[in-house]
Amino acid sequence: MKNTKWWTITDNIPLEQQQGIIEAGAMIAAGGTVAFPTETVYGLGANARDTLAVECIFAAKGRPPDNPLIVHIADLAQLEEFVLPYDDTSARLMRHFWPGPLTIVLPVRANALSSRVTAGLATVGVRMPAHHTALALIRVSGYPVAAPSANRSGRPSPTRAEHVREDLNGLIDGIVDHGVTSVGVESTVIQLLGNHIHVLRPGRVTRAMLQEVVSEVTIDLTAESDNDIATESLQGRSAPRSPGIKYTHYAPQGQLYIIQGTSSEQISLYIQRGLITAKQRGETTGVLTFAEHIDRYRADIVQSLGSIFILEEAAQLLYSALRHFDEAGATYILAEACPTEGIGLAVMNRLMGAAGHRVIRIGTLR
Ligand code: TXA
Ligand code: MG
Repeated sequence: MKNTKWWTITDNIPLEQQQGIIEAGAMIAAGGTVAFPTETVYGLGANARDTLAVECIFAAKGRPPDNPLIVHIADLAQLEEFVLPYDDTSARLMRHFWPGPLTIVLPVRANALSSRVTAGLATVGVRMPAHHTALALIRVSGYPVAAPSANRSGRPSPTRAEHVREDLNGLIDGIVDHGVTSVGVESTVIQLLGNHIHVLRPGRVTRAMLQEVVSEVTIDLTAESDNDIATESLQGRSAPRSPGIKYTHYAPQGQLYIIQGTSSEQISLYIQRGLITAKQRGETTGVLTFAEHIDRYRADIVQSLGSIFILEEAAQLLYSALRHFDEAGATYILAEACPTEGIGLAVMNRLMGAAGHRVIRIGTLR
């Protein structure tokens, strides 16, 4: 067991003067593993050049070794050290979206990073997080920082330092606490091939946002369940896959079903009936809904993802809601689907993963 250090960042002292940044940065430089906040979710960071340190990330998370890590940078000078020259489109996307929740898969320079980071691939996923604490920590450490989400493999990504502690206390060297993360779901991961952008994982940076910046390229969504279909449809060319896709995503301890349909009232009636029947069987029932519909349900655990009209809120609240069902001992959970426009696509992508793609469609198909 490790003695996991805890630092709290405060807002009234310059970051570079705070113990949390100085000590945690030194810890990363010395080969340690430190969890820190980004704008998406908390990451578990280590020096991306240090194989032993990177192996500690995999060990702490229980992560399969063939799932590569995202490398986090604080400035573009750091990037040139470990990627090969890249195309104009990537450069434009970086200028527009960095710092921010967009991970770009780029060709990696030989021997510039630990091969454990890339899982032996010829590419590396990189991003510059839009979070001052993360940027200060990377700068102070002096290294590019490899960081997957700071959860045990198979658990929801952490949106608070307390979530990291639940999963990784005693397994990592430290946790930098700076409150709740703003985006709530992991970064959009893209890979550019010729004139195509493949979205390997949807996130806060939506397809429409990408298209606005690089109007001349086509954009495929090859994420998640669409992956097999997308691979087939790219005549002769095999679509890039994110190695992470083949692993089971977070599934709560209780059974989770997503209810989809055209009429919100019909969905709610179906859900409420399902909850009553489940309760009669002796289940501890849970419902995942939106603020506008919360009064429609009676369940042991009723959780709202905020307004159905503001899906940024759903993204921010989703993972803590899923963790809460487990804490409260829910055995049977019904969830409303949300529209897949904008960030709703990322929300549904994560929710589908959590439900093991168990969807009940009622009424007319859309
Ligand atoms: O928002 C985020 O991206 C967070 C924060 C901490 O930055 N990080 C994160 O890392 O979500 P992780 O390890 O949980 O997810 C990384 C995803 C995986 O699905 C992985 O397969 C994919 O990115 N990935 C990493 N490198 C890749 C590469 N070279 N090619 C394709 N996919 C890659
Ligand atoms: Mg993860």
